[in-house]
Amino acid sequence: MCGIVGYIGEREIKNRLVDGLRELEYRGYDSAGIAVMQNGRIDSFKAVGKLSNLEEKTKEYSTEGLGVGIGHTRWATHGKPTELNAHPHMGEYSYVVHNGIIENYREIKEKLESEGVTFLSQTDTEVIVHLFEAEAEKEEDLFKAFKATIEQLDGAYAVLLVTQKAPDTIFFARKGSPMILGRNRKGEIFFASSDAPLIGEADEVAYMEDGTVGYVTPKSLYTEPQELLFVPLAGDKMTAQKGGYRFFMEKEIYEQYDVMSDTMIGRVLDNDIYFEEIDEKFLEGVSRIKLCACGTSYHAALTSSYLFERISKIPVNVEIASEFRYKDPLLTDDTLFIVISQSGETADTLEALKMAKDAGLKTLAICNVDNSSIVRLADTTLLTRAGIEKGVASTKAFATQVMVLWMLSLFFAKQRKSMDESAIKEEIRFMHYVPKVLQKSLEVHEKCKRLSKRYLHGHGFFFIGRDIFFPLALEGALKLKEISYLHAEGYPAGEMKHGPIALADAELFTIALMPKTLLYDKTKSNVEELSARDSTILSISPDLFDLADDFILTHPHNHPMLEFFEMMVVEQLLAMEIAIRLGNDVDMPRNLAKSVTVE
Ligand code: M6R
Repeated sequence: MCGIVGYIGEREIKNRLVDGLRELEYRGYDSAGIAVMQNGRIDSFKAVGKLSNLEEKTKEYSTEGLGVGIGHTRWATHGKPTELNAHPHMGEYSYVVHNGIIENYREIKEKLESEGVTFLSQTDTEVIVHLFEAEAEKEEDLFKAFKATIEQLDGAYAVLLVTQKAPDTIFFARKGSPMILGRNRKGEIFFASSDAPLIGEADEVAYMEDGTVGYVTPKSLYTEPQELLFVPLAGDKMTAQKGGYRFFMEKEIYEQYDVMSDTMIGRVLDNDIYFEEIDEKFLEGVSRIKLCACGTSYHAALTSSYLFERISKIPVNVEIASEFRYKDPLLTDDTLFIVISQSGETADTLEALKMAKDAGLKTLAICNVDNSSIVRLADTTLLTRAGIEKGVASTKAFATQVMVLWMLSLFFAKQRKSMDESAIKEEIRFMHYVPKVLQKSLEVHEKCKRLSKRYLHGHGFFFIGRDIFFPLALEGALKLKEISYLHAEGYPAGEMKHGPIALADAELFTIALMPKTLLYDKTKSNVEELSARDSTILSISPDLFDLADDFILTHPHNHPMLEFFEMMVVEQLLAMEIAIRLGNDVDMPRNLAKSVTVE
């Protein structure tokens, strides 16, 4: 995914920008570029591929003295990864870098073209710089011109713009795509789209709110609609990387809003799902899907099996990779083999993928790490774009896996005409609400913190749910056991009376996922059965349930997937708070590794 950096100061500017971009490399990109402004002149360089190509191109270039620079790593969404499409994009006398997507860029582009503007790239970003210059023709105050530009943009953006008309100035705006401004005692100013490039450089940082627009020079900083709130940035890399959170897991839970927007950018359009990685013929000859993964990724696979069958009307089966490898599986060439992995290095999943490839199956990877072994091996990959995940307990990776799979089920539904267009549009309409559902909910977090003290003992936890809430129950139980070391199991709510209910007593904690939009009454009867056996019940639901001992109220939603994502966050926070109370190292639980590269 794209990355942005910016710098104002007296040190060599090119190196500051390239070093900053290197810190963002983990997000994946396919081209990079910088623009440096000094003494009223702008020099810009771009290169396709790795940052080393940009370094090679700029090896003879360096600066001395005060100057301004902006830089970008681009992950192609509109237009191919070419030099022309790489950022910064230029107008007559200004340059811009942008993360996000400008949804109404076509209309803006047509209007500007009709006024005689020539476009060089296929990107949505280029409209920003031309629009700014058009506004600057009408308005002498360049901040007003910039603001007028931003007001005309629909979509998500983090934008930095420099112009020869305002030497020493960077204009900036943020909506729906993260942007941080940092500064230090030497008077240097930094921008970055995530905190990694700022660590060790800035003393304090401001995480911009959506809707922020402003400008900065070496001597002044102006923002609307409110001033930026600066907080200290810890000098030590580890603390700083946690961004004020106690654990990486907590940070990653809270990041889910931003990364989910990244996952969707360029893929979830107003009325359509678009995957440039998959062509129209992809499903030719495919009549079934086999999904294969381990751990949390397996739970994402299981969730999607409901979606693929219900939405895309394709028969699906899901396999745990370590089981699949040795069962002498019967593989038929009408099967699309999908592997899911956060790390892309999980040995069992990788081996399963090799088996599928050897059998001549079409393969697709859903993965968070570009260039990982699984990505390199699969025919096609959809990156989940969750950013680096450090907590051993997977959180944002799971959220983005499920999202990509939901998107894929709709994408296939369209190709197979298994759902009518209006129903697909309706699903997409709900999909747009997901980032909002994931937005931090301090109240819910507080409630989980308070409740956690009641769940530190007992002889076990049952997480129960039906339909897609069954894999979510499995995931809740896995999260809890991984970091709290308490015994927890996930069950389909309807299975309890086939055996597990024998364990029910007051010391058995049932975490009941009770969504209103899916099989509420059925789940309710299963919970009633447990309550009648005196099990202690914590219900997670938008409705109060009078037989529950405790409850966490979620928001009412009109779509099961929205309830799914909100309950997912509750499970993550609850597991984390219980583990913290038990004094465990949440990020590095005993006996576990982040990447399981042995079988
Ligand atoms: O990197 P992968 O997604 O392939 O990893 C699979 C599992 O090892 C992983 O999901 C594991 O279960 C996590 N610790 C869950 O939080």
